[in-house]
Amino acid sequence: MSKSGATPLIRLGAVGLGRAFTVMVPTFALDPRVQLVAGADPLPEARARFEQDFGGRVYTSLEDLLAGVQVDAVYLATPVEAHLQQIQVLADAGIHVLMEKPMALSMPDCLEILAIAERANIHLLIGHSHSFDTPYLRTRELIRGGSLGRIRMMTALNFTDFMYRPRRPDELDTARGGGVVYSQAAHQIDILRLLGGGQVTSVRAMTGAWDTDRNTEGAYSALLTFEDGLVATAVYSGYAHFDSDEFLDWQGELGTIKNPDTYWTARQSLASLTQDRSENEVKAARNYGGPLYQPPDLGEVRARRHQHFGSIIVSCERGDIRPLPSAIIIYGDTQRSRLELPSPAVPRAEVIDELVGVLVDSTEAIHSGAWATATLEVCLGILASATSGEEITMSHQCSVLT
Ligand SMILES: NC(=O)c1ccc[n+]([C@@H]2O[C@H](COP(=O)([O-])OP(=O)(O)OC[C@H]3O[C@@H](n4cnc5c(N)ncnc54)[C@H](O)[C@@H]3O)[C@@H](O)[C@H]2O)c1
Repeated sequence: MSKSGATPLIRLGAVGLGRAFTVMVPTFALDPRVQLVAGADPLPEARARFEQDFGGRVYTSLEDLLAGVQVDAVYLATPVEAHLQQIQVLADAGIHVLMEKPMALSMPDCLEILAIAERANIHLLIGHSHSFDTPYLRTRELIRGGSLGRIRMMTALNFTDFMYRPRRPDELDTARGGGVVYSQAAHQIDILRLLGGGQVTSVRAMTGAWDTDRNTEGAYSALLTFEDGLVATAVYSGYAHFDSDEFLDWQGELGTIKNPDTYWTARQSLASLTQDRSENEVKAARNYGGPLYQPPDLGEVRARRHQHFGSIIVSCERGDIRPLPSAIIIYGDTQRSRLELPSPAVPRAEVIDELVGVLVDSTEAIHSGAWATATLEVCLGILASATSGEEITMSHQCSVLT
């Protein structure tokens, strides 16, 4: 993969060339501000594909990559249990980090990661999360502009087939970061915190684990209270037959157009897969460099709309706001207006915007380690409230841009 244009601003190493990296490939392939100069993964097929796509040097480990090549930052997309040890290695080398969410599975681990990064004076960004998506960043600007009055309530809903896509064993084990709270609430709560200012005060939630063959949380319904009386409802079902992208003109999470008549295919394929190969094998085969890996068609990628995470309605004193993948609809007292959002030239370019902002322009990032720690606290609050039946009070929240 090649791109023309200006000299890249950031020389990046990618560590962990699995599913998360696969989804970021179009961003790295198309954004001229970053150059992937090296990749590391224990899997030979992922390393071979990386050499073919990016022409960079390849290594089997983070340590070897840091010893072998000079980078400005590392994109860390390894399994979550590796993050704490690897951030120490990166801190010792003085290398800035873009780390995939969730940064860890517990508050002590998050706080330790924050302390390590702070002691070493390295920048730590957490993402991609869908709160980077332009429709939500623009909605935040509209709320802050104040013309609709104070924000009072947010309603977020996402119905998907998440639970029936091929999964690794750890993705179906809550103790190892499985289930939709760690994986999907990490997006939805991040968006609600971005729009609501960041400071959640308490969480009351119930979760659902409705499929004994896939024994982890596949659904949740949560009520979040914020400072100033703002309240948010966050609902997610990964068991859905109804696909809530119907509310978004059938534009999917990654900005592609979906066929409304194929919503059952995930369940159907899973049933047929398990008769011959395990779903874990199939998932691995689809990953970067695997035998079923489908490289992105960069022409098709350029035609995509903005990415999103389901239906969100923001209720303000004098109007409601609804962010969509291609526009934001504003329902005011006397008129309904539509703010068009041109399709992005590079998917997830907002992640590179923040990375360049922090590393090159010395601006403050929204998606800092402290920000992601606060989002994880809410996700852990959902799990704790569902278990105890209690309302859980938050104590590690931070505001947007602090
Ligand atoms: N933002 C998103 O859209 C998104 C999507 C999927 C996953 N994620 C997150 O990304 C992270 C990775 O998840 P995934 O689904 O890509 O997992 P994955 O198993 O598909 O990929 C992980 C990769 O890391 C490699 N690896 C394992 N240990 C390593 C080590 N010590 N050093 C270097 N490479 C190592 C594996 O061989 C594999 O290729 C998790 O934190 C997950 O929550 C984010």
